[in-house]
Amino acid sequence: MKILSIYYSATGNTEKVANVIQKTAKAEGHEIDVLRITKDMKETPEIDLLDYDFVFAGSGVYQWLPGRPLQEFFTKMLWEYFSKGEIKPSAPRRPGKKAVIYCTYGGYHTGINEAIPAVKYMGQLFDHLGFTIVAEWYFVGEYKSKKLLSFSTGGRMGDIKGRPTEDDLKDVAERVKGILKI
Ligand SMILES: Cc1cc2nc3c(=O)[nH]c(=O)nc-3n(C[C@H](O)[C@H](O)[C@H](O)COP(=O)(O)O)c2cc1C
Repeated sequence: MKILSIYYSATGNTEKVANVIQKTAKAEGHEIDVLRITKDMKETPEIDLLDYDFVFAGSGVYQWLPGRPLQEFFTKMLWEYFSKGEIKPSAPRRPGKKAVIYCTYGGYHTGINEAIPAVKYMGQLFDHLGFTIVAEWYFVGEYKSKKLLSFSTGGRMGDIKGRPTEDDLKDVAERVKGILKI
């Protein structure tokens, strides 16, 4: 199965998850390409999402949404596929095309509620293209900016220092193994 992992990670938490996804998919015998979106990307990466059978898409959560560079990339993709006629009325399913959408989030104020819009947002590009969203995953990630260090304790999620931990990453690997079998 041809797999794409696409992610944005401003402070490295989502990257840890993406690395486990890559390693696990390979170990399970799949071919996986990785596209890391960064804020200083000058040109839109040349990639055809429709070349892939299975996509993992993830980001850290910033004000309830994925990082701005990922949003901008998804907007470009949306219009590119729309202009090619690949986004059709009622978004018919493309048989065999599947996506897992995930985020890492801190949830200091409202917990998972502030991460749900980010995952729903990312899923819509793939849903519009006719991929079936087979899972939505939410992983806790500590706040790494100096200004927000205190947000890693005492918020809605309690003490999240050091997350995602090794155990969290083991959970990622188990989920990846499981979902690739469907
Ligand atoms: C500037 C900043 C803003 C953040 N805003 C939110 C937020 O609105 N909601 C949330 O749940 N987490 C928020 N977080 C926590 C991040 O989503 C979390 O640390 C995530 O794991 C970061 O992923 P990344 O390192 O891959 O970018 C914020 C973190 C930073 C540094």
